[in-house]
Amino acid sequence: DELSEKEQHLVQTAIKATEHSYSPYSHFAVGAALLLENGNEVMGANQENAAYPSGLCAERVALFYAGHQYPDMPVVALAIAAATNGRQVESISPCGACRQVLLEAEQRYGKPMKVLLCGTKEVVVAESAESLLPLCFGAKDLK
Ligand code: THU
Repeated sequence: DELSEKEQHLVQTAIKATEHSYSPYSHFAVGAALLLENGNEVMGANQENAAYPSGLCAERVALFYAGHQYPDMPVVALAIAAATNGRQVESISPCGACRQVLLEAEQRYGKPMKVLLCGTKEVVVAESAESLLPLCFGAKDLK
């Protein structure tokens, strides 16, 4: 109830995105949904590969797609949901590599990205990508 209407919609979009997962190896379907500053939503789902490390998490599929399709559009929120056997499971948190990519988008656009971890009954909220990655390495370190 504490989420805005747009955020509630984003949660539903992330749940729907799990249906587009290609996960024949883990059978763990992850969906991600981004809310852009212009109000558009972008979806992503994990895409696995027989050569396991060649696959990609849902969050990075969505963020890299948005980076290409909407290059200068800040990402203001990201919702993540997961399912097994077509049923939503409890909230999951992004892996370390995805956190680094979330951080880059947040710093690139200079806007906090709210992260919504969607469970079946509640949504865990992090106010920014940086809050998920303390003592982070970022663009500032290359200046
Ligand atoms: N996965 C994601 O897509 N996002 C996460 O935040 C955690 C893990 C995927 C990677 C792999 O396809 C499957 O879930 C099992 O690890």
